[in-house]
Amino acid sequence: MENKFSVYIETYGCQMNLSDTEIVSRVVKNAGYDLVDSPRKANVVLLNTCSVRENAERKIFERLSQLKKFKQNGEPFVIGILGCMAERLRHKLLEETQVVDLSVGPDEYRKVPELIQKAFAGEKGIAVRLSRVETYDDIEPLRKEGISAWISIMRGCDKFCTYCVVPYTRGRERSRPLNSIVNEVKKLWDEGYKEVTLLGQNVNSYRCPQSNADFADLLKACALAVPKMRIRFVTSHPQDMSDKLIETIAEYSNICKYIHLPIQSGSNRILELMGRNYTFEHYLGRIEKIRSLMPNCALSTDIIAGFPTETIDDHQATLRALEIIRFDGAYMFRYSPREHTKAYKMPDDVPDKEKIRRLNEIIDLQNKISKEINETEHNKIHEVLAEGPSKKDKTKWQGRTDTNKVVIFEPKRNVATGELIRVKITNSTCATLFGKIVD
Ligand code: 5AD
Ligand code: SF4
Repeated sequence: MENKFSVYIETYGCQMNLSDTEIVSRVVKNAGYDLVDSPRKANVVLLNTCSVRENAERKIFERLSQLKKFKQNGEPFVIGILGCMAERLRHKLLEETQVVDLSVGPDEYRKVPELIQKAFAGEKGIAVRLSRVETYDDIEPLRKEGISAWISIMRGCDKFCTYCVVPYTRGRERSRPLNSIVNEVKKLWDEGYKEVTLLGQNVNSYRCPQSNADFADLLKACALAVPKMRIRFVTSHPQDMSDKLIETIAEYSNICKYIHLPIQSGSNRILELMGRNYTFEHYLGRIEKIRSLMPNCALSTDIIAGFPTETIDDHQATLRALEIIRFDGAYMFRYSPREHTKAYKMPDDVPDKEKIRRLNEIIDLQNKISKEINETEHNKIHEVLAEGPSKKDKTKWQGRTDTNKVVIFEPKRNVATGELIRVKITNSTCATLFGKIVD
């Protein structure tokens, strides 16, 4: 029988969403539907969405108005919203847009096939209940071929930072069993993957529901299970960055020496208003501990500019923090009020223009620091995991160092995807290293 449903999924936002798309893809495929790689080949388009900043949501509304045309050529065509926006806006998208037929929150992906069917029968579908237990542990993500895989190890977040909508859209924190994660790492190695990234909103508060093992125990178990697999993880919270965890990262050579540790602000007053539960001094202590055990560990961070009541002095404290710590890189944002959060009730009193000015100042400083740090890499040799031809220049190849830096190099011999090669760094920008194969 010819298949009735051809599904195209488009993903926005964080790596967690990319990983969730792989779960939805498996659910849809198991139901016997086809997955296609363009909306033109589809009669179902699902957008896996992000709500973390207003801009992310604006993009989805724009995309929805573009997709409208697919509905106008007579054939039945279904459009669905998955993820954080579905959760946050619930029935609003169905009622107000006239375009959306189904809306499915992050904990209800098992219902996607059923809701697609109902949508074709003319029934608008909504499933946005959050769960305390759903981890999709039994669903094997449908991954694209490659050498690098994501493994979602936990879902949700219990931190309730005052600016953040994630605890409301993704619900309470829950972890997958350690054994199941370790088995997945082994299986991925057997399938040819060379690198895994353990994913969660807050991986260092991981707790195995069966053995009570913590994140350090999990990292160690993964590192020992497949000693040649590169193991990465994201994101960590400074409050849960224990000595034990830092020691474990230092101890195993296949745990990558790269830590993403969001600081958000350098001002203690703002950190307190953000509900981050640490001071700048505590944060700095964690960085010093990391560097004392791993002098070459790369560090990146997240920064928010223009949080409610942020003064010039607070902003200066953030700039000073960047100068003191000298991160390899940073993701930098201007504050965006999100409904339902605690900060939403605070005055959004830094004018947009000033937020942008502060953000640009932060970006300029960080770019300067990243560039200086990358210049210290010149003439050093790195083990690079070869990924494939570079996106910008197909005659060159691209790979990543253990410290998560992108390296562009000339493939002077036949390099294979997934091969570990030694590359001498010859040049750099603030975002990229350039080098030559040395063996
Ligand atoms: N406004 C701006 N940035 C935000 N982030 C989270 N919520 C907001 C918001 N309301 C940023 C934080 C977080 C990253 C994923 O997004 O820096 O670490
Ligand atoms: Fe949001 Fe804070 Fe949780 Fe990160 S730790 S997802 S910023 S609430």
